[in-house]
Amino acid sequence: MKIGVFDSGLGGLSILKSLKKSLPQYDYLYLGDSLHVPYGDKDPEKITTWAKKIIPFFIEKNCCLIIFACNTITATSLSQIQEKFDHQIKVLGIIRPTSEFLLANPARKIGIIGTTNTIVSNIFTHDLEKISPKKRINYHQQACPGLVEEIEKGPPYSKKMKTILSSCLALLTEKKVDVLVLGCTHYNLIADQIQTLLPKTKIITQGDIAAQKLAAYLNRHLDLAQKITCQSKLELYFTKIKVNYSFLVNFFLDNREQSVELKLAKINFS
Ligand code: DGL
Repeated sequence: MKIGVFDSGLGGLSILKSLKKSLPQYDYLYLGDSLHVPYGDKDPEKITTWAKKIIPFFIEKNCCLIIFACNTITATSLSQIQEKFDHQIKVLGIIRPTSEFLLANPARKIGIIGTTNTIVSNIFTHDLEKISPKKRINYHQQACPGLVEEIEKGPPYSKKMKTILSSCLALLTEKKVDVLVLGCTHYNLIADQIQTLLPKTKIITQGDIAAQKLAAYLNRHLDLAQKITCQSKLELYFTKIKVNYSFLVNFFLDNREQSVELKLAKINFS
């Protein structure tokens, strides 16, 4: 069986890349809902409805575990999806591993950037308070609307992307945050550009965190780990294959070997 990785589009490739690097033996199936990307400003109920149609695809394709490589889906839909599919498949989100990392690596003032849905849900702050209710955490959150659309276009990045990013980051610089969490997997794809704009700030990306937490999780759940086949295979599905996707997938995965084939996931959303 395979490990499923789910995002709205290309963003989850930042997580997949780290998973493949840390746990290269496993077989992975990636699905990006590129038909509906961006999720960040869509109605959360709609996102949950799409996710409910997408999960059976992972089950049909023989996945035994799904990682939500998307902060927005985790924020809007994780608990409802876990409740609905609990008896069929294990589903893990991306926020809890990030919160645990932040608690284990305390900072003076934490900045968090994400999509509007993620920031409005306050999921990071609720989660941090839930795991460690007594700890006072100083944080500042900022949504970056429009950024995902520009990242999806890939390099060379537009002037518009730089403008959105600069105004978003300027607000955080004013707040003098000393670490910045990239709370959207799409932003993780441009971590280097963000670091260049904020040279003194420690940038927290989610790929390695997710990989470490998954390894620890599988060590604790050997029954599940033993179901995952180990042929280092990768299947890549999208609900819409856009013209530049083949190039972008290989670019974001830093794939220098033979280019990976993209397949269309035929899911009935009506
Ligand atoms: N990459 C996703 C996230 O981590 C969603 C971006 C979007 O579709 O707006 O939030």
